Amino acid sequence: MTPPTWSPDCWRSKPIRQAPAYPDAAAFAAAEETLRRSPPLVFAGEVRSLKAALARVAEGEAFLLQGGDCAESFAEFSADAIRDTFKVLLQMAVALTFGGACPVVKVGRVAGQFAKPRSEPMETIDGATLPSYRGDIVNGAGFDEASRTPDPKRMLRAYSQSAATLNLLRAFAQGGFADLRRVHQWNLEFVASSPQGRRYDRLAGRIDEALAFMAACGVTSAAAAALGQTGFYTSHEALLLPYEEALTRVDSLTGDWYDCSTHLPWIGERTRQIDGAHVAFCQGIGNPVGVKVGPTVTADELIRLIDALNPENEAGRLTLIARMGADKAGLVLPALVRRVAREGRKVVWSSDPMHGNTIKTEGGYKTRRFDKVLAEVRAFFDVHRAEGTHAGGIHVEMTGKDVTECVGGAQGITEALLGDRYHTQCDPRLNSSQALELAFLLAEELMAERNMRIASPRIAAVAD
Ligand code: PEP
Ligand code: CO
Repeated sequence: MTPPTWSPDCWRSKPIRQAPAYPDAAAFAAAEETLRRSPPLVFAGEVRSLKAALARVAEGEAFLLQGGDCAESFAEFSADAIRDTFKVLLQMAVALTFGGACPVVKVGRVAGQFAKPRSEPMETIDGATLPSYRGDIVNGAGFDEASRTPDPKRMLRAYSQSAATLNLLRAFAQGGFADLRRVHQWNLEFVASSPQGRRYDRLAGRIDEALAFMAACGVTSAAAAALGQTGFYTSHEALLLPYEEALTRVDSLTGDWYDCSTHLPWIGERTRQIDGAHVAFCQGIGNPVGVKVGPTVTADELIRLIDALNPENEAGRLTLIARMGADKAGLVLPALVRRVAREGRKVVWSSDPMHGNTIKTEGGYKTRRFDKVLAEVRAFFDVHRAEGTHAGGIHVEMTGKDVTECVGGAQGITEALLGDRYHTQCDPRLNSSQALELAFLLAEELMAERNMRIASPRIAAVAD
């Protein structure tokens, strides 16, 4: 429920971090006005369906799969790129649903994931200092003054690209592409011959058999819509608040405010100050919201953040995305998870095993070691098993492209190979083979959690 004093612009009176400085105030106001007059990108009813699905995750009955680019870009915008990332998410979801025997809520980091927080506001190269690149919705990546000057028209281009992306994703999700009978066709060519691809094909074969059996019993995609289409939602970091505000609308059915730029906005690790602008904005929208939490968060601070963002303790409203780093997760998470459970706070716990594990190679590449990613995921599941709580989700930066950005995995990508196909706009992403490998590990972990739950009345009680 929206607090009575809240309005979409209430964040403007709060301290704000990571806000770009636009030199042309008139052009900025004009772009905001254009956005305000533009149609919403998502609808409140869809947002409520996602919240209901996330409530099932919070209750231990489903799993959240959230993934996509670190940053979408104007230059890399193509139907093939959207399709291939969607395919990998479908493959991961199949591995989790079938291997982990768990319903999966699918959410892309897509159709709006353009704005990036930066650790330094300025960047210096060879003696020249310019504003840092903050994502294509703000400025350009090129290191020259024209590119780096924040340009409000970029918000309009990001909006249009998001609309086109969403249109295609809706068509894929509902128009037959996601029909389970096509499960083999989601395997991307360059993955098919890898160990992960072959493992996926064997799984797809078993699904075929199950579908053939069900069809013989009269259950087909014509008779059961769930087999022929999928639910798919979008998410991005709600960082650029003027963009989010301009797309925040009153739902005519309920009278509540919704941020209609995306289904699931999240607050980043750098902007989650309890009295800050980003938390203030998210307090009043009816969407489910996420918040990243890194290793410096204390249990008291976390409870205050939960109270600020989910005062009514509504299941599905709040997803805590832990991004601790492989070496810290096992040390920091137990006290946090225990405290949240002890105080009866209904949240989804999700693991982002990417952002706490970023390193720079001697060759100057920002990368992540795949074994560290897997280690953080294992630690996340271990903690939840020990605490008797549900490891509710995963949040990854991944792509359907055959990139070499993270080292390790079954393809044996080494530091020396990173330069081959290093295309990311920002942080290093898992490629499809690494993403699938991760999904198989997750499926095993979910199965182990499920088996424990059957064996242990304590966990069953938490789930109830
Ligand atoms: C991100 O998700 O790309 C990001 C910047 O994450 P975090 O806020 O966790 O650093
Ligand atoms: Co990132």
